[in-house]
Amino acid sequence: MIKLFQSWWKNRGKRSVAALPADNIPEHVAIIMDGNGRWARNKGLPRIVGHRNGMKAVKRATIAADELGIRILTLYAFSTENWKRPKDEVDFLMSLPQEFLALELEELIEKNVQVRMMGHTDNLPRHTLEAMEEAVSRTENNTGLILNFALNYGSRREMTESMKVIAREVQTGQLSPEDITEEMINSHLLSQGLSDPDLLIRTGGELRLSNFMLWQAAYSELWFTDLYWPEFGREQLVEAVAEYQRRTRRYGGLS
Ligand code: FPP
Repeated sequence: MIKLFQSWWKNRGKRSVAALPADNIPEHVAIIMDGNGRWARNKGLPRIVGHRNGMKAVKRATIAADELGIRILTLYAFSTENWKRPKDEVDFLMSLPQEFLALELEELIEKNVQVRMMGHTDNLPRHTLEAMEEAVSRTENNTGLILNFALNYGSRREMTESMKVIAREVQTGQLSPEDITEEMINSHLLSQGLSDPDLLIRTGGELRLSNFMLWQAAYSELWFTDLYWPEFGREQLVEAVAEYQRRTRRYGGLS
């Protein structure tokens, strides 16, 4: 009886997955995973320890997203601007996909998760790219949660490159300017084939998009938390989804 009370007391106020209306789960949740460095600094630890603990949060978020019935989880793992960081940190960040997939790929396959990568592949280290490519190819026929890593991703570069491709198609006469539609632009972006994020989460207390899915997030619901990414887990995802379910999405129209 005492145990039952203690468990109730510990969980009071916390939402359970079952309490979320199943008919309004966001299809696509995208997360800017920020605050690894500050989390580590606050504990007197090197920044890379923060990133390693960030990797553990990636696992928690993936399991929780799957449990909630989210279809697509996009995680901003490395931006086109993150190359400006010290080489040691960049090297460490580039080793994480390999480390994560060595630990988790079998379980992801078991859970029917499809791994994808959204990013520029030209300047990624070979070992990082190979680890991602292996995971993508081994899970390509899976039909469960899509776990989409935004790796070496930058929205402005994505748009610039898409525009170049479209401009060339116009130049060669394959397309006329009138053929350029929103759908057509979508199909030239790195996110092609994925729906736009319904819910965009940023941890770490900053209130900005940092070059992340600027086109695709036009009508995303935004949710920010001061918690650092290594502290993120199921409880925060459930909280964000619950808040999403309280919002009215009008897309510029009237409710
Ligand atoms: C931003 O926090 C975080 C990153 C640049 C890296 C995010 C990477 C992970 C969470 C791990 C990825 C794992 C896999 C499996 C790919 P920050 O370092 O800028 O934090 P700060 O703002 O506190 O300094």
